[in-house]
Amino acid sequence: MGDLFTRKAVGVTGGEADAIKVCCSTAYQRDAVALILGESYHPGGLDLTRRLAGALGLRAGQRVLDVASGPGATAFLLAAELGVEVDGVDLGDRQVAAANAKAAANGLAGRVRFHVGDAERLPLPDESVDAVVCECAFCTFPDKPTAAAEMARVLKPGGRVGITDVALDPGRLHHELKTLAGWVACLADARPVDEYVALLADAGLAVTRRESHDGALAKMVDQIDARLAAFRMARVPGLEGVDFDTARQRTALAARAVRDGIAGYTLLVAEKA
Ligand SMILES: C[S@@+](CC[C@H](N)C(=O)[O-])C[C@H]1O[C@@H](n2cnc3c(N)ncnc32)[C@H](O)[C@@H]1O
Repeated sequence: MGDLFTRKAVGVTGGEADAIKVCCSTAYQRDAVALILGESYHPGGLDLTRRLAGALGLRAGQRVLDVASGPGATAFLLAAELGVEVDGVDLGDRQVAAANAKAAANGLAGRVRFHVGDAERLPLPDESVDAVVCECAFCTFPDKPTAAAEMARVLKPGGRVGITDVALDPGRLHHELKTLAGWVACLADARPVDEYVALLADAGLAVTRRESHDGALAKMVDQIDARLAAFRMARVPGLEGVDFDTARQRTALAARAVRDGIAGYTLLVAEKA
């Protein structure tokens, strides 16, 4: 894994793809991530989630799948504010257990459920959900055509997919952001918007809306850097193993990529015929 962590991580083999998935989901279960990222793990936070939900036209009683649900903040918001039922799927078993415990504690266990599963092999039947959401995670799936096909498979005809994700020009990305650390940070395998649109189209999902939210990515990168700086000074418990210098160097590279127009954040809605 050490070798994979530092070298360019593009064109991965099957074994490497599994290692990347394990690394990515393990990384997001660290206490440090919750401290640094906050309640939800994507640019734009819950405000952008609300915008995505609006673009999907979600209605009470509908069934929604959140692919790569992370800490579950999106699922809780959708259930509480829109009255939908949500299934969340994430590879991280500890995140899934914690999110299910939170659902039970908040009396939402009947309407929000989390499952351990891979986005490339979703544990849901064909045509079982009205909508799929996937925030800041599609870019990390090594086999994107299969992940898109899985979203299409579980959607009912006429159902919609809402994705928000990092979009960038891979040819201009700094080589230090093409490592496994960059993969976990949603940069190394992110694609241009047109490529996401084509991947969805190939899966039978026609894009009906695309929006840029690059400012949300810039804000998140700034916020991460500010927290890293503050936590380093304060010596916060749970962050003892964090290499603050390397993390801040990578954050600076990411900030420059956004400033230079190499990386941005995109909202896409697509419909299944
Ligand atoms: C940047 S976080 C986003 C979490 C959540 N969507 C949010 O916005 O708060 C990426 C998430 O993708 C999950 N993940 C990575 N690869 C996955 C896969 N192949 N299948 C399911 N989940 C995956 C990680 O465990 C992590 O929770």
